[in-house]
Amino acid sequence: MCPPLAFDVRKRPFDHGERRMNWLVKTFTSSIGKKQVMAVTGLSFCLFVTVHLMGNLTIYAGKDSFLSYVDRLHSLESLVAVAEFGLIFFAVLHIGMGLFLFLENRRARPVSYAVEESAGGRTIGSRTSPYTGALILIFVIVHLIKFRFVDKMTINDFVILSNTFADFGFWTLFYVAGVIVVAIHVSHGFWSGFQTLGISHPKYMPFVERLGIIFSLIIGIGFASIPVFVFLSL
Ligand code: HEM
Repeated sequence: MCPPLAFDVRKRPFDHGERRMNWLVKTFTSSIGKKQVMAVTGLSFCLFVTVHLMGNLTIYAGKDSFLSYVDRLHSLESLVAVAEFGLIFFAVLHIGMGLFLFLENRRARPVSYAVEESAGGRTIGSRTSPYTGALILIFVIVHLIKFRFVDKMTINDFVILSNTFADFGFWTLFYVAGVIVVAIHVSHGFWSGFQTLGISHPKYMPFVERLGIIFSLIIGIGFASIPVFVFLSL
């Protein structure tokens, strides 16, 4: 005869590993979990573009200030490596979850409404966010090829900037159009991210919405002014 079990498996003590696993599975499989992942990663990108814009605006103080900012950035090698790894990881999550939600919505509502309501939170930013998101991916890939994956031993960032925006041609238009798309995407993403994370109190939401618009205008105008400034100051 079998001896009785030392403990009843149904009454196991707390298994933290299993609970963490359940939480992870729930986060990545439920719609709200996916939205939360998008909110955290999206708001982190907002932080990144803010820091990136602040760094790039040193161009207004002249070539030396801009190059000393770039040198300082490159001297923080390991910090930059961690940030880059984080950006790639967050980009994969943001794009992956976004794609899932987009396909889920399409499956739930295969035929779009005959009349798209513009009231009730439907803005250009929210209606176009999957498409502006895809355009931003293309913009960032081209931008990285142009500015990041370049042999910086033979050319510095100021020369790349000057060469890129030397005439009011394709690249200037590409960058201005690119950052307008970023601004439209962010105008929705900013408040939507806060709302998903629970800041949906009627008292604060109009403020967060206005802040999102102001933030996207600063990002759009701030970045778009750089090619124009470089072109005019050459
Ligand atoms: C006129 C607009 C912009 C200019 C002049 C600009 C300039 C630059 C420069 C000079 C670098 C290389 C820094 C280095 O030497 O390591 C860079 C990297 C980068 N930029 Fe931009 N940028 C612009 C807009 C944007 C926007 C709108 C985004 C995002 C939506 C973006 C995302 C990135 C990323 C992800 C990197 C790589 C960061 C790294 O690997 O450390 N940039 N940019």
